[in-house]
Amino acid sequence: MNENVNEFWDWWIIVLVVINLVGCLALLYWTRKVKAEDENETTGHIYDGIEEYNNPLPHWWLNLFYITLAFSVVYLVLYPGMGTDYKGTLDWSQEKQHEQEVQTAKEKYQPLFDKYAAIPIEQLAQNKDAIGMGKRIFVNTCFGCHGSDGRGNPGYPDLTDNDWLWGGSAEEIKFSIVNGRTGVMPGFGPMLNADQLDGLVQYVGQLSGHKVDANAAETGKQVFDTQCFVCHGNDGKGNKMFGAPNLTDDIWLYSGSSTNIAKTIKEGRTGVMPAHGEILGDAKAHLVAAYVYSLSNQNESDQ
Ligand code: HEC
Ligand code: HEC
Repeated sequence: MNENVNEFWDWWIIVLVVINLVGCLALLYWTRKVKAEDENETTGHIYDGIEEYNNPLPHWWLNLFYITLAFSVVYLVLYPGMGTDYKGTLDWSQEKQHEQEVQTAKEKYQPLFDKYAAIPIEQLAQNKDAIGMGKRIFVNTCFGCHGSDGRGNPGYPDLTDNDWLWGGSAEEIKFSIVNGRTGVMPGFGPMLNADQLDGLVQYVGQLSGHKVDANAAETGKQVFDTQCFVCHGNDGKGNKMFGAPNLTDDIWLYSGSSTNIAKTIKEGRTGVMPAHGEILGDAKAHLVAAYVYSLSNQNESDQ
């Protein structure tokens, strides 16, 4: 923000605070009456026949006001409340408090992180406490893309289904998290005529067991076997080296509608999993990998 604007708001706050304090004090002083000369003197206000006596405020009541005012003055000396330049004698700040809390938490949890970091992921995935910690990291860091339950969104893979673009072993999962992954499906639009494109859409659908036009699918298969097999394999089952999805399992990264399949083939897709190694550090990456590993390996035993 502009410095002049900042300064204006600083003074705005300072003046308001001072006016309020002085105002309260003046009001108290003005209403402070030691004792009414005549105990039966009234203020002249009458409501429904009830008259108001003109008695002073009780002492304890007044004193509470004075204490409150004194408290706010002490507070304003100790803490930053008078514009941004005055830091308060305690030198307290939100950031410092936050840093201190982070530091305390680190000291508390670091030994636990260290302990878990030394345990293999497959084994860690059986440990309820470790999985709980991994899940919290997941919910904080990954849910925006993969969903809070890891079931994914269009373009963001489901991590619970044991169908992997890049591999579901403990090492492969951790590698995906630490180093990130970029899946590039090139666009084939300019290379294909309408029949070939439609043929490919039909063929890809057929691979996953959709009802399709068999003739068109045959045309598509011919193109597939020359253009697509490099990454998706002759049988369409994909290749984890390129992150090329299995096209035969009816599990879709981008939904399996004909429109979407055609769009993918024509325009291509680039799915980016950002590297999280530096964001998380090794111990947290290890824990969240164990959590992700547990998601699909637990499914296996449920079935
Ligand atoms: C250079 C390797 C490569 C080639 C060649 C390739 N693909 Fe892909 N394909 C990929 C990758 C990688 C993805 C995943 C993209 C992502 O992660 O965003 C993908 C995704 C797809 C998808 C989306 C799958 C889903 O689950 O939503 C379809 C459909 C597809 N490819 C069909 C084809 C067809 C048809 C061809 C041939 C015309 C082809 N691909 C050629 C690498 C390739
Ligand atoms: C900005 C969005 C985004 C965030 C945040 C994100 N991911 Fe991903 N992730 C993706 C995308 C997109 C892919 C698929 C990449 C591709 O298309 O090949 C992916 C792929 C993966 C894979 C590989 C899946 C497979 O089938 O092989 C794993 C494992 C994974 N993410 C775990 C995580 C974890 C754990 C976190 C949190 C620490 C996380 N991701 C955070 C977008 C994200």
